[in-house]
Amino acid sequence: MSNSKGVIFDLDGVIVDTAKFHFLAWRKLANDLGFDITETQNEELKGVSRVKSLEIILGWGGVTLTEDEFMEQMAMKNDNYLSYISGMTKSDILPGVSEIIDFLKENDIPIALGSASKNARNILEKVGLYQSFDAIVDGNDVSKAKPNPEVFLIAADQLNVDPENCVVFEDSVAGIQAANLAKMTSIGIGEEAVLNEADHVYTDFTEIEIDFIKKLVTK
Ligand code: BG6
Ligand code: MG
Repeated sequence: MSNSKGVIFDLDGVIVDTAKFHFLAWRKLANDLGFDITETQNEELKGVSRVKSLEIILGWGGVTLTEDEFMEQMAMKNDNYLSYISGMTKSDILPGVSEIIDFLKENDIPIALGSASKNARNILEKVGLYQSFDAIVDGNDVSKAKPNPEVFLIAADQLNVDPENCVVFEDSVAGIQAANLAKMTSIGIGEEAVLNEADHVYTDFTEIEIDFIKKLVTK
C-alpha cells in the first residue's frame, strides 16, 4: 500500500441529518409496542445496524417478538424511515460538508463512505454525492457492525490506503470506537461529552478550518 492519505465519512449524522429520522422511526416503533425511548438512549443506536438496533430497543422495552414479528417491525421501521428521506435533495447536505469534500477532491485525496446503513447508496444519490466517492462501503457490504472496525478497514482497502493513514468523520460512539480500533484518526462530529473517545471533536463541519484538514491529510 502507499503512504498517501484517505478520508472516510460516515453518512447518517455526518453528511446528512438523517440521524433524527432514524430516531423518529425507532421511537414510533417503540410507542406502537407500548413504550418510549429517549434521545439519550438514541445515542446508543447511532452507528448501529438495523437488526442490532431493534434488538437493543426490544431489550429496553422488555418486549419479545417471534422471528416473523421481528422482521415485520424492521420492515415497518424502514418504510417509515424511507418516507422521511423520500424528499431529500442536495440542499440536505449538512453545512460545511461539500466544502471539505471539494477540498479533498481538488487535492487528489481519495474519499470513502463507511456507513452501517443499507439505505446509504440511495441517500447519496438523492443528495447528488454518489459520484464523488472513490469507494462506498455500507450495511450491505459488512457482516460485523460498528464498533467492529470492519466497515472502515474495507473502505481503507478499497482506497488502497493504510488504515493508519485514514481519517474518519463520525457522529456515533460506536463509529469512533470502530475508527480507533482500526488505528485511524477519529474525528467526532457532535458533542464532546458524548464523543470523548475521538482524537478530535467538532460540533459541525463549519467549525473545521481547512488548514486543520490540510495538516491531517499531508502530514
Ligand atoms: C447508521 C445509523 O448509519 O445506520 C443507525 O446511525 C441506523 O441509526 C443504521 O440504524 C442502519 O441504517 P439502515 O438505513 O440500514 O436502517
Ligand atoms: Mg452516523
